[in-house]
Amino acid sequence: MLLINGKTTSEQIKSEIAQRVAEIKKEGGKIPHLAAILVGNDGASQTYVGAKVKSCQQVGFESTLVRLEETVTEEELLKAVADINENPEIDGLIVQLPLPKHISVEKVTNKIKPEKDVDGFTPSNVGRMTLGWPSYVAATPYGIVELLKRYDIETSGKHCVVIGRSHIVGSPMSILMARNEYPGNCTVTLTHSRTKNLPEITKTADILIVAIGKPEFVTAEMVKEGATVIDVGIHRIADESKKSGFRLIGDVKFDEVAAKASAITPVPGGVGPMTIASLLYNTLLAAEGKIYSK
Ligand code: GUN
Repeated sequence: MLLINGKTTSEQIKSEIAQRVAEIKKEGGKIPHLAAILVGNDGASQTYVGAKVKSCQQVGFESTLVRLEETVTEEELLKAVADINENPEIDGLIVQLPLPKHISVEKVTNKIKPEKDVDGFTPSNVGRMTLGWPSYVAATPYGIVELLKRYDIETSGKHCVVIGRSHIVGSPMSILMARNEYPGNCTVTLTHSRTKNLPEITKTADILIVAIGKPEFVTAEMVKEGATVIDVGIHRIADESKKSGFRLIGDVKFDEVAAKASAITPVPGGVGPMTIASLLYNTLLAAEGKIYSK
């Protein structure tokens, strides 16, 4: 069984990005600059955004964190996005989700200039990705594609089953795995909470990508012998044997599925660390005008 180590791979990608930043500095070019808008005090969002800002520092990027109160109006948030859109110093912008209920995610997402949308969430980038045009691809699916590539997982002609149809993971994943390039060329089945006979379908998967958001949902009996299993889930569960009082588990029952799989991502240390590496990579592409010319 091959353990797909996202932590090591993400460190490798970050060091490649840091090398490129060092070259840009030497050439007197523009240092990539990521801005993040964080609304409110959600603990998980604060942790994620903190990790993104810290990773910017690690690779030598500039970063700006804009913090807004939970009570900020939609208009004020749209203005903050517009200001960053127009700021030539800033190459990439992310608005951390979720947003408070009184704010329309659609309106805010649509306000982000596609050229700076390094999360790949705007209709323009989702459309371009779907068409196979140059685009920013959302961090989690992009991270998974990169893991499959760097671990040389064969995909052509394989049956890829995706569990979960979210805009952020499942839906773009299904499109990327079907496209006519490597990694891709799969026959893809996109499944979700209303799918009938799910185990019968998952048992036929050569590549199983699980993004359903339910702890240890996928068990050994749902998996074909020799499958590649990618676990996008991340859940905290109480564990008194740990100093922190909790441990992290995924959407896949790791031990029993690992015994059957030919390759699998662990949680933690699988897909998770790849998402930040992908975001940094998109920001580098933005700064260098590689997707939309400057
Ligand atoms: N919330 C959870 N995942 C993400 C992400 O990838 N980007 C943003 N902006 N918010 C998120």
